[in-house]
Amino acid sequence: MKRITKAVFPVAGLGTRFLPVTKASPKEMLPIVDKPLIQFAVEEAVDAGMTHMIFVTGRNKRAIEDHFDKAYELETELEVRGKQKLLDVAREVIPSHVTCIYVRQAEALGLGHAVLCARPVVGDEPFAVVLADDLIDSSPGALKEMVDVYERQACSVIAVEHVAREETSSYGIVDCGDAVGTERLINAIVEKPDPAVAPSTLAVVGRYLLTAEIFDELDGVTRGAGGEIQLTDAIASLIQKQRVLAYSFNGKRYDCGSKLGYLQANVQFGLRHPEIADELRAFLHRIENEG
Ligand code: G1P
Repeated sequence: MKRITKAVFPVAGLGTRFLPVTKASPKEMLPIVDKPLIQFAVEEAVDAGMTHMIFVTGRNKRAIEDHFDKAYELETELEVRGKQKLLDVAREVIPSHVTCIYVRQAEALGLGHAVLCARPVVGDEPFAVVLADDLIDSSPGALKEMVDVYERQACSVIAVEHVAREETSSYGIVDCGDAVGTERLINAIVEKPDPAVAPSTLAVVGRYLLTAEIFDELDGVTRGAGGEIQLTDAIASLIQKQRVLAYSFNGKRYDCGSKLGYLQANVQFGLRHPEIADELRAFLHRIENEG
């Protein structure tokens, strides 16, 4: 069984739900307190043992490349000023054993198309797909837990969690057999079904471990929900040929693709941030009491 060393981050999306802030800046660079969403995603992949980070980018995404690059001017300036702690923060954005690779998705044809753009770099290996919008607060990280499942079961693994029935039209929804511990065999998967016809309320969250056979399926899928090439549709074909497991991860997920989820994550992480936790807690009490 091949080890998973590559993680694909589809980051070409326009981020229209966060306009105007995303007019000229990538939504993946939105901070949770002081760290961009994409850095949380990369750290989770590194903690799960991955060494090659493949970003599928588009126009206006230069900031992501700069973020994971060496910042000579900044480092020199901090060195001159003797700001060692900040220098460490800037340098530790990415460990030296990790390689970043950038692939361009010229047209926004959907998540499945973005993943297919990474095929020449991934090759014939199992790999992870990580959607930075879904911030999962857990230790060990959800991807690490999924790698353990993959190593035990030697098949694709997809993270899932229950959502309210009225929300099924925002997610890939799976129909599964009975749970065996934290895993279930996926019998069917459908992209963004109407609540009235959704086969369950078990939703796909943005963490996938996929075998390389998914690329052949992606090659074959036609435009699906929203007129896009959907990863979900390729997974629906894959389950006809291979086992694919749904995994209920530990920890809390924040939907940072929505304004409310993003703000909730900021409050939660802020309440844990050593520099601001106490004052933020006091502030929240104060505004609550003021009604
Ligand atoms: C994508 C997938 C969907 C999945 C979701 C998780 O949708 O297509 O199946 O449930 O991510 O966040 P998007 O949120 O990009 O519309």
